[in-house]
Formats: sequence, structure tokens, C-alpha cells
Amino acid sequence: MSETAERRDTDARTAEEIRRHHAVMVADLDRLSAALVEAAESGADVAPARSALLEWITTVLVPHAAQEEETTYPAAAGLPEGHLLIMGMLAEHDVIRHFAGLVRGTKNPAAAGAYARALYETFASHQRKKNDYILPLLVNEPSVSLTDLMSNSHGHAHHH
Ligand SMILES: [Fe+2]
Repeated sequence: MSETAERRDTDARTAEEIRRHHAVMVADLDRLSAALVEAAESGADVAPARSALLEWITTVLVPHAAQEEETTYPAAAGLPEGHLLIMGMLAEHDVIRHFAGLVRGTKNPAAAGAYARALYETFASHQRKKNDYILPLLVNEPSVSLTDLMSNSHGHAHHH
């Protein structure tokens, strides 16, 4: 196998690993945000469900976005086909952070649940774009090693 084909193969495996990690994140956010809605609807104290969601946002979501902004996003932004897509993805990080701030800031339990579900829907759509457009772009780009990008990143929580 040529060196380029070998790298493409390794990168395809790395991309699958990243997609699996994304699926776990989306499922976790689905569960945590649904729990907040259920607590609000049942009239129970929403504080535990809200804390669990905010804890996940702080320890998983925010570091994940920061890591992307240092690894896959700059690599894809450097390619002509990726440049505008990444500008859109960065704008979506702002939307995601905005919804997270609304969940944290509101005093109304029903509103907190609704913002949490809006966060979930936005994040799920955002991750689909990463999986379906950005990862294939990087896997197929001979000048980029997705595997090296991920193993060189600091504070990388999900790779091995
Ligand atoms: Fe992202």
C-alpha cells in the first residue's frame, strides 16, 4: 500500500473513533436535557438535573469545542472547500455557548428545559456536519493527517 493510502486508512479509523465519541456526547446531552424537561414538567426540584447538565457542559462540551478549535477546525479552514464551512461551525459554537448560558441563567424551570432541548437539537445538528462534511474532507486530504492532529492535541480527553 502506498504511504498516502496507508495514511488515508489510518485517518478513516481515527474518524470512526471521533464519530463514536460524538454519538456518546449527543446521547448524553439528549438524556441530560430530557431529564431537566421531565423534572420541570413533574413540578419536582430542577436543581439536580440542571446541575448535572451544567457539569457536563463545563467538563465535556466546552473542552470539546476548544479542542476542535485547535485541531480539526484550523486544518479544515486551511482548505478551500472547508473555509466557509468552518466559519459557519465557529458561529455555531457561539450559538451553542449562548444556549448553555440561557440554561444556566434562567430562573424559570420550564424555560431551562426548553433551552436545554434547543441546546441538544443545535448540538446534534452541529455534530452531524462535523461527521458528514469535515471529517471526510480531512480524511481525503493528502496534506492533512487527522490522526496526527488528534494525537498532538493537548487535553485530548477521548483519544485512547
Ligand atoms: Fe464543533
